This record gives sequence, C-alpha cells and structure tokens, in this order.
Amino acid sequence: MTYAEFYRRSVDEPEAFWGEQARLIDWHTPPQRILDNDKAPFTRWFVGGTTNLCHNAIDRHLKDRPNQAALIHVSTETGREETYTFAQLHDQVQRAGAAIRSLGVSRGDRVLIYMPMVPEAIVAMLACARIGAIHSVVFGGFASVSLASRIEDASPKLIVSADAGSRGGKVVPYKPLLDEAIRLSSHKPDAVLMVDRGLASMDHVAGRDHDWKALTERHAGVQVPCEWLDATDISYTIYTSGTTGKPKGVQRDVGGYAVALAASMKHIFQCKAGQTYFCTSDIGWVVGHCYIVYGPLIAGMATIVYEGLPIRPDAGIWWQLVEKYKVNVMFSAPTAVRVLKKYDEAFLKKYDLSSLQSLFLAGEPLDEPTARWIHDALGVPIIDNYWQTETGWPLMTIANGVEKKASKFGSPGLPMYGWKVKLVHETTGEELTKPNEKGVVVVESPTPPGFMQTVWRDDARFVKTYWQTIPGKTLYSTFDWGIRDEDGYYYILGRTDDVINVAGHRLGTREIEESISSHKAVAEVAVVGVADNVKGQVAMAFAVLRDPAAYPDAAARLKLEGEIMKVVDGQLGAVARPARVRFVTLLPKTRSGKLLRRAIQAVCEGRDPGDLTTIEDPSTLQQIKEQVQAG
Ligand code: PRX
Repeated sequence: MTYAEFYRRSVDEPEAFWGEQARLIDWHTPPQRILDNDKAPFTRWFVGGTTNLCHNAIDRHLKDRPNQAALIHVSTETGREETYTFAQLHDQVQRAGAAIRSLGVSRGDRVLIYMPMVPEAIVAMLACARIGAIHSVVFGGFASVSLASRIEDASPKLIVSADAGSRGGKVVPYKPLLDEAIRLSSHKPDAVLMVDRGLASMDHVAGRDHDWKALTERHAGVQVPCEWLDATDISYTIYTSGTTGKPKGVQRDVGGYAVALAASMKHIFQCKAGQTYFCTSDIGWVVGHCYIVYGPLIAGMATIVYEGLPIRPDAGIWWQLVEKYKVNVMFSAPTAVRVLKKYDEAFLKKYDLSSLQSLFLAGEPLDEPTARWIHDALGVPIIDNYWQTETGWPLMTIANGVEKKASKFGSPGLPMYGWKVKLVHETTGEELTKPNEKGVVVVESPTPPGFMQTVWRDDARFVKTYWQTIPGKTLYSTFDWGIRDEDGYYYILGRTDDVINVAGHRLGTREIEESISSHKAVAEVAVVGVADNVKGQVAMAFAVLRDPAAYPDAAARLKLEGEIMKVVDGQLGAVARPARVRFVTLLPKTRSGKLLRRAIQAVCEGRDPGDLTTIEDPSTLQQIKEQVQAG
C-alpha cells in the first residue's frame, strides 16, 4: 500500500483504520465503539474496551521473552550500569506497585514523580500504570517554584523522588527543592517515597517520608495484578508551558495512547520485538514518556535509560553504547547533535554502528547543516519528526514502515496517518491551499488516538486555549507557523505564541518573566527567545529597574544580572535561566500597553522589526538595539 492510500484510509475511514491498529495491543475486553466524537473536540477512542499500559509494556512479553533485556540503565554520572529483563522488571514493578498501594494510593489517585534518570523512576511510572494511579512526572531539572505549581495542580497523594540528580559530575540535591515545593504548595501529599542514591544527605520528615528500598523490599514477591482500566480512563498528566504563566496539565488516556504508540513503533520507527531502542530524552518530557518508557516496551524492545551528558567521559559515549548494546533505533534532539558536531568525528567512527537503522530527531527545527553532518557521519536515515506534548506522537514525519519516502532537509515531512493537518491564515482563519503560503498549523477534529484528552481538571481551558483561536472555526491550533511545498511536505517555522524552545526544552516566557519580576530590584521585564547556534533558541531578558540609580555602573549591573539568574535557577531551574539579563529604562509597547515581543525578538536577531505604527515610543527599541550591539 502506498503511504497516500494508507493516510487517506486513516482519515476517511478512521473507525476501520484504528480498529485494525487496535489489534497491535492486548485488550482485556475488546472495544465496543472505536470512535466516539459526539462531544467533539473531546474525542474518545476504543470506548468499552479495557486494557492496561503496564500489561502491554511488560506482562504480555513474559511468555515469549522473559529473559530478554527490557530496561538497560547506564549512568555515566554514578558509574551504575545494569540490565533488567522483562521478568525482572515485572518483579520490580510489582514490588513498587504494592509499596505505592501500601501508602494509600489507589486507582485514579495522582502520584507525582520528580526524579533523575534512574531505573526506579521508570519502575514507579509502570507501577502507577499497573494499579491505575495517574502519574505526573515533573522534569528533574525544574526547581521548587515550578514543582510547587505542579504539585498544587496535580494534588498528588504521593510524591516519588530521589536524594539527588547529577549533571556533568555535579550533584544536584532534589530533596531540599522538593521540601520547599511542598511548603509552597497549598496541597500537601500524604506520603513521600525517596530513592536514596547515597549522593546527598536528606532531612527526614517523620510520618511522611518513606524509603524506596526498604518499602519495596518489604513487598518482595507480592503479586500485583494489572487493574483493567477503561480505554478512556486517565493514564497520566504531563505539564507543559503555554502563553499564560500557569502550566497546563496535558491529560492522556489509556487505550488510545497504547494503540497510538504501538502503531508508531511499527509504521514510523520500523521496530521489532527483541530489538534495542535508545532515546536520549528525559522521562520528564513527553518524548521520554513515549519513547523511553511506553513505546519501546509495548513493542517488546529493550530500552536504554541513560543518565549523563553526551560528551562525558567523551563525545563518543552514545556511540559506545550503540556498539555495546547493538542499538537499532535512536531518538534524540537536534541540539544534542549540534553539541556533538563541535567534537571530532573520530568519536563516531571509532565504534561499530552497524546495528543502527535510523536516527529520529525531534523537539525543535532540524537545520540542514546539522542533519547533513550526522547523516554523513552515521550513514543511516536521519528522520525529523514534528509533534508536541499535546499530540503524544508525531503528527508529521515520514512513515517508512508503510512506504519508503525520501526526507527533505529542513522538513519533518508529511502529515501522519490520523492527523487532518491544515494550514490557515492567522487572522482570517481561511484555509491556505496553495503551496508555499505561510500559515498556522492546525488539526481538524477528530484527533487520532494518543492526542490529549483535555487539560487536567479544566475542560473549558482545553477548548478555549486550543480550539477557539482560529477565527470562525473549531480547529486545534499547534501554535506553530508552517508552510507546505508542492509535494505536500511541511516546514515548521516556529511558534506563534510566547513559548520558546531552548535546547529542545519547551519553556514559557511568561513563567520566566514572573520569576525575574520576583526580584525586588525589577519593576518590569520582557523575555524573548533569540536564535542560538547550538541551543536553537535562548531566553533573553530586558528588565526595567525600580531604582536604576541604585545600580549606577556596569559592575553593579553585572552583579545584579547574576543575582537575577540565581533567582531563576532557584525557582524554575537552570533550564529556564536567561542567557543575558539586560537593563533598559522602558520596554517597547503599543499605545494600548501591549508588549511588542516580536519586535524585541527581531531586533535581537538583527532582523527588521516590521510594522511599528502602533509603538508608543520608538526609542525603546533603539535602546534594545544598542544593548544587543554592545554585546
Ligand atoms: O514548536 C514546535 C517544536 O516543539 C514544540 C513542542 O514541544 P514539546 O511540547 O516539548 O514537544 C516536543 C515533542 C517532540 C512544537 O510546537 N517542535 C517539535 N518538533 C519539531 C519542532 N519544531 C520543528 N521541527 C520539529 N521536528
């Protein structure tokens, strides 16, 4: 079948198409109704079916491959390296499930997971899935204020965490950040379960804090059968940034998600059971949920869980792992490749990479020089894929498992099966049908399995934020600009909103602004994303001081800049730290007081700021220009 036929069937006959895909997973009760879009845009898939993500990720493989590697953990930070077979993972997950239950958690309760890349983190996720608890994994690089807002919103009964993470050999204690976050949040968890890696000392809160090792060992050998969940039950929430400061809890189902991942492993990633998958993301991001944890395991593959940098002990570490574990498919981000590109290609050539079939890259635009370099170095297809936390799996890429198609540099490819992707005009909402017209990338309902169900506890926000921004139409907005060429290949040109993408990490500029504003010297601040050769984008802040006279010279302002960065580090985490904080006397705004972010960004990137007829005071942009030129 050609991809065009495959795609057409997926959107014209979604029930028949997805009914077939549903056979890729195990069901306890088969679905009665494949698609229910009666309450669009709240699309429900596989209604009446019952299943379990953990069953599909582990138990289902116990018959054919109990002694095959399921989880391979490598930490170049601590030197820990170990492999769990499917049978061993099954055992660990049952212990953890029993331990988590013993702390009062049951089906539908939330468990927040704030952890570094250790096996216990994945075991905790799978244990939640097994007992029907809703996990909410928060990226370990986030600090107390980010964590507090997520605790507040998810209202977890239990938090699972660890004493510390480690990055580049530097220990980052988690427990003080967690304790502070719990203090800041009005919601308090009943229990906290701590993995003690022996990296940092911990204050113990009696009656609340428990030790992972002791508690899971106490439950050794306990059988914890999978809870059979409705396909439309909630599997997890994951927080992501948008235009407002408050992060959104993207909520995902059970059955649709399992089917979507299983289908993607086959049609997009061309994976087979018994193979090895290496995704270099972090479990705190959607890519980690899908392609470190659930996708590869559902497909019966071994998944590599790596803690460490791509350049330590040297820039060959990933390729060393590819050789050692005979990795078949890799998934990473363009930023990581740009980092590796700075090192000698010999680091790549040193290893036997013959097992590798392809490298998938996502999370940010893949520039042509980066794609070419890694393609030439590896000699395997480099497959750009475009998606979002909300979509759950790629909505644009190349499905080589269906039909081999050439990639085009700079393009993530074609709309994937199930996604009715369109381009519309930003202000009129009119569909753009001619090639090479720039518009907003949108998706028509029904959205395919795997797509978010709603915003956690806020259906109204789901509809308003995502489905009501295109004038006169009910369409899902990706908030990305795009164009489509004569062959139907899309090109993604960046966000239409205030979201920035730093090294593949999605951040809201409003959150960073709120954090900077909490410094007492700052009256007002604007944060924009500025193009960067390695990270794709970096955050750049322009602050107006309450009392500029208090910081009269360059030395005083430099000291203040450092202080502000520390505030951001402490509240949000180093990932959100702006590259620079510059000081101005006034910010560029329209006469009605709206901040001209796009103009600031353009000036920072040396581009023409465009139409400035509404600007209140043009000298404000001049100030920014001078600051940027001064370096
Ligand atoms: O702007 C797009 C960019 O990353 C955003 C989504 O980020 P996140 O929710 O963290 O999900 C990442 C999942 C891979 C998008 O709105 N983006 C993601 N992939 C690409 C991309 N931009 C260009 N090309 C891509 N392949």
